Amino acid sequence: MPTLRFAGLRPELDRIVEAPAGGQLVDICDALQAPVPFSCRAASCGTCVVRVLEGAEHLVRPNDDEAVLLALMGQSESCRLACQAEVRAGPGRVHLQALGSEGGRAREGRGA
Ligand code: FES
Repeated sequence: MPTLRFAGLRPELDRIVEAPAGGQLVDICDALQAPVPFSCRAASCGTCVVRVLEGAEHLVRPNDDEAVLLALMGQSESCRLACQAEVRAGPGRVHLQALGSEGGRAREGRGA
C-alpha cells in the first residue's frame, strides 16, 4: 500500500495519504486534494512539476511526453510531472514536493 507524502511549506502542512492500488498520480491528487497545482493536465505547461524526495522506484518510468517536457524545462531526474506520473501498487513510501509556480500558494491554502 503506497503511502504518499506531499511536502508543504512547513512540516505541519505536509499531507500524507494512502493509495492502496497505486494509479495515476493526478487522480490521487484530485481525490485527496493533495497540494499540487495543475493546469493543462497534458504534459504541456509544467505547472504540476514535483520533486521526488523519496521513493522514485514506486513510480512508473516517465512516458515520452513527460520526459520531453521535463528535459525542455531543464528539470533534474528527480522531478516528475504529477499529471503524467503513475504510482505502482504495492508497499512503499513516496515523498513529493510541488515546484510549480502556483505550488506555494496551493500548499499554503490547504491542510492548515
Ligand atoms: S498540468 Fe500541465 S504539465 Fe502537468
